[in-house]
Amino acid sequence: MRKFAIANQKGGSGKTTTAVNLAAALGEAGRRVLVVDLDPQHSATAWLGVRDTGRGLYDLFVGDGDLSRVITSTGVPGVDLAPSSPWMVGVERILVGEVGAEQILRRNLAKLPADTWDYVLVDCPPTLGLLTVNALAAVQEVLVPVEAHVMALTGLAHLLHTVEVVRERLNNDLRVSGILACRVDARTRHAREVVEQLREHNGELVYRTVIRENIRLAECPSFAQPITRYDSKSSGAADYRALAQEIIAQEKQP
Ligand SMILES: Nc1ncnc2c1ncn2[C@@H]1O[C@H](COP(=O)(O)OP(=O)(O)OP(=O)(O)O)[C@@H](O)[C@H]1O
Ligand SMILES: [Mg+2]
Repeated sequence: MRKFAIANQKGGSGKTTTAVNLAAALGEAGRRVLVVDLDPQHSATAWLGVRDTGRGLYDLFVGDGDLSRVITSTGVPGVDLAPSSPWMVGVERILVGEVGAEQILRRNLAKLPADTWDYVLVDCPPTLGLLTVNALAAVQEVLVPVEAHVMALTGLAHLLHTVEVVRERLNNDLRVSGILACRVDARTRHAREVVEQLREHNGELVYRTVIRENIRLAECPSFAQPITRYDSKSSGAADYRALAQEIIAQEKQP
């Protein structure tokens, strides 16, 4: 079971779009995926069409809830969900100062059966607070979506530093699996330069796949459908399928 945190403290960088559509593309390729929605905005939960969430993951963090009991199936083939809910807004405040609060998700993921899902994708909120640290403590791989604008790159060093700190203190297995250029407008020179700059500074860490700007990706949350179903022939669907294949191919490397 490969576990990914999809993290970037910058808002609107493409985390949720990537969590939902990468999950759908992996599902389409026959893999089983668990999406964990850690964001109190619960956008991934709504996008995956899950309405009756109760308190979602809240009871896991605040009470003695059991992760396996909040997991629900979705209408997307191969994709299950641990839902968020508006209750999650209070979690970070309630847990301040609690011993071991950074490890709650890690402990709960460890209790899941190892062979039910091939991938766990954790959609993080746009902060580096306790919920994102929970995600980083619980996974082996971080997928960092960045919007292809110069301004969007400034927070990247801070995020990579946080990953390094969590790796040293909480989770020795953690590494950045890949930086994903999102919303790349292939027609502008600016976007191409930003992708080049990303590769110059981060080399192999940048996925070969880039996600192009595609209005269909922005439309599909309103229809509670992933891009692979909403518009299977769109560039967005093609890009997330390519990313899924790139991630699957990593498993064949020595
Ligand atoms: N490739 C794309 N083409 C067009 N629009 C996109 C693309 N990727 C993301 N968007 C749009 O950009 C906005 C931000 O994307 P998204 O919600 O995935 O980011 P996020 O990092 O999850 O945001 P937040 O930090 O608020 O959780 C959304 O309106 C989304 O529809
Ligand atoms: Mg989001």
